[in-house]
Parts: sequence; structure tokens; C-alpha cells
Amino acid sequence: MVTFHVCCCSGNVRIPIETMRLILATFAGAMFGYFLGIILPNLSAKINLPTNLIPSTDLPSQTLFDALNYFKANMVVSAPSKQFIRPKIWIPTNPKGAEVLPPGIVSPTSDIYPRRLWGKPSEDLAIVPKYLVAFTVGYEQKQSVNAAVEKASPLSLLSCKHIHVTACDSSFYFKYMCPTFIQTWVNEYEFSENFTIVLFHYDGQTSEWDEFEWSRRAIHVSARKQSKWWYAKRFLHPDIVAPYDYIFIWDEDLGVQHFNAEEYIKIVRKHGLEISQPGLDPRSVGRTWEMTMKKHGIEVHKFVEIRATVFSRNAWRCVWHMIQNDLVHGWGLDFNMRRCVETPHEKIGVVDAQWIVHEGIPTQGNQGPGETGMTPLKGIRERCKHELVIFQNRMSNAEKEYYAEMWANPSNFTTVF
Ligand SMILES: *[C@@H]1O[C@H](CO)[C@@H](O)[C@H](O)[C@H]1NC(C)=O
Ligand SMILES: *[C@@H]1O[C@H](CO)[C@@H](O)[C@H](O)[C@H]1NC(C)=O
Repeated sequence: MVTFHVCCCSGNVRIPIETMRLILATFAGAMFGYFLGIILPNLSAKINLPTNLIPSTDLPSQTLFDALNYFKANMVVSAPSKQFIRPKIWIPTNPKGAEVLPPGIVSPTSDIYPRRLWGKPSEDLAIVPKYLVAFTVGYEQKQSVNAAVEKASPLSLLSCKHIHVTACDSSFYFKYMCPTFIQTWVNEYEFSENFTIVLFHYDGQTSEWDEFEWSRRAIHVSARKQSKWWYAKRFLHPDIVAPYDYIFIWDEDLGVQHFNAEEYIKIVRKHGLEISQPGLDPRSVGRTWEMTMKKHGIEVHKFVEIRATVFSRNAWRCVWHMIQNDLVHGWGLDFNMRRCVETPHEKIGVVDAQWIVHEGIPTQGNQGPGETGMTPLKGIRERCKHELVIFQNRMSNAEKEYYAEMWANPSNFTTVF
């Protein structure tokens, strides 16, 4: 846990000599500019500058600025014509809209690493996280999410708050219940410092999470009553999450007692999985696809649904483009993810050796419309189904259009194939 402290206002901070010098120099410069500004309008009158070229203004610094511009313009006009004229910059390979910039200054991608407001930028990050995990959360599920981030099980976490030290007698209690043991235990994180943790809050409660130490190093995004894919589309643009090797987009109600994130990534790398998820414990509530059930005795098998998906950087770039702005539930995405990897039967898979339990807590069920005569949950379900139909239609139409154009113009075949 890293806490950043900003103290710019404490009285006992000693100002270093260089800073003093800088302040003095700045002050002197400002004074000089000010007097020059007062003198200059008179000066310009005396040397008969065409005053209509200098807009009249009461601000001395503005006058100075305009006067300098005037001199600069004159210099350019009187310069010999054979003087070197710098060519205008136009770099077609720069990102669209940034062609006029020298390529060396273009920063097309970003990250969401917190930085300090002081010190050297190069020393801001002690550890550069290579993985990102995003949970879409409501405060009611905080224990479940906390258990997913911290290594302790929800049971021991909950009990720890109410247990008395006498419980440390037996070794079982010592291991699982003793508060002092818990203290050291909870400082180990399921998602270690190698992870950037992002919480998307759909109920507007954010600072309430700060009771957890890890929450203070997390990135919190708050927008009421939105869905996992709505946030992902808006806040996890591939250019923004470019430094992350793997991106976990997870539901809030997953039990991770049998899951180890670093081990998981080792397996994913070993098998070259571009899109993956941990196996789902067969006891999971409300499981959707038989294919994602954990299989015994094997490390991975192939097929994912979209509860606890892990994307490689490249796969995420493609999937992000497939997410539709207006279709917020992501239904149909799972069936189409194979489009985003070249050999889906090899690169999409379920990691059986690391598995999770879907606890089936109806999470966003209370976020639907209460007023249309339907229960909130029913309203959401209807929209999910409707969105699935829209998505499938869009996909098949887009495909049809593409192939129709290809057939209509046989020259396309020679260029593409
Ligand atoms: C974080 O990543 C580094 C480099 O891959 C690794 O050596 C280290 O063990 C990881 N940290 C944890 C807590 O697993
Ligand atoms: C097919 O070729 C035409 C003209 O050569 C081009 O305008 C069009 O974009 C191409 N279509 C595809 C799908 O590549």
C-alpha cells in the first residue's frame, strides 16, 4: 500500500536555495516586463510606429506582447528571401489529426497510473503494474469484492471483526480467526501491486470503500446505474489501457478462494490464451454455459462466457471495437469473441486449474426502472434479450454488406486474397 502525501502548505517547510533563486529571478523578470510595458506605448509614439497596428489596451503586458509581435513581423518581412524556410510539418503516419506534430512528441497512448504532484516524473512509479482488474460494484457487495481483492476468505474476514482473542486457543482458530493473524493475512492481496484495480461504481458510493486499504490505491469511476460494458467502453479504451498485458473485466460476485491471479496469468501465458476465464465451480449459482464449468484434472479447456473474462492487450483492442455504444449489457459478445483472435480454438479457453465460484448475488437487479409496472430485474432482463437480437442483426448485416461489396467489385479479391 502506497499512500501519497501532499503537503504544500505546512509552515515549517524549508525552501531550497535554488527555489529561492528561481522565485527572485521570476519576480525581477516580471518587474522588468511591467516597466517596459508602461514605457513602451510612449516609446512607440516617439519612434513613429503606426499606432493602428498596436491595439490599444490598458494591460501593459498585453501591449508589450503586441509590440514584440510587431517587431517580429517586421523582421520576417525585411529578412533576405533566400533565408532557410522551415518546411511545414506533415507526417501522414501520425495519428489522425496530429499530422502537424513532429512524431517525437506524439503520445498516442496513455495509462491510468497514479502519479505524484512533486518529484521527478521518472521516479513516480516504484512498480509499473502490468495487469488491470476492473470490477463493476455496488456498495452492498463490498464484502464480496473485498474478499476478491484480499487473500483472506470472506468468512475469516467477517469473523475477524467479531472474534475475541480467546478464540486463538485452538490452531484452527489461530489460523483462521485470530485477529492478529488476520492483520498480517489481509495485507496480502489477491490482486497484488502488479495490478491496477479499477472500481466502476453504479450506486454513486465511492469514498465508503476507503475502509479497505487497497481501495485507496484503486481508481474509482462513479456513474449511476450503468453496466459493466458501458463503463468498459468508455473508460477502458485500448489506447488508455495500452501498458497492460492482461485486462480482467469481472463481476462483483465471484468467490476467489481457489484462485491465484499471478498463477492464473502464468498459465494463460504458457498456453498463449488471448481471451480466457477461470473455471466456474459447478456449485456456482445461476451458471449460464455448461462449457465454462471447471473440468477435473486438466489445466485449460476452451470456451468463455463474459462473467470473469481476461483479455490480452490485442484481444481487448478488438473486443472494445465490437462493443456497441448503445447496447449496454454485452449480450452476444461472448459468441462473437472468436472473431477477435486468429485461431480461436487455441487461443480462447477456460483455466481449470484456477477456478472461481459464482455466488449469484443479484447485483444490479435493483438498478432497473421501478415505475413501468415491471419489477426492476424483469425490466433489465427484457432489455438484455432485446439487445441480443439487435446485436446479432447488426453483426450479420455488417457481414453481409462487407461480402456484398466484395462480390460486387471483383478487384477486391486480388487485393485482399
Ligand atoms: C509481480 O511481478 C513480478 C515480475 O513479474 C514478480 O516477480 C512478482 O512476484 C510479482 N508480485 C507478486 C506479488 O506476485
Ligand atoms: C472494393 O474496391 C473498391 C474500389 O476498388 C473500394 O472502394 C472498396 O472499399 C473495396 N471494398 C472492400 C470491402 O474492400
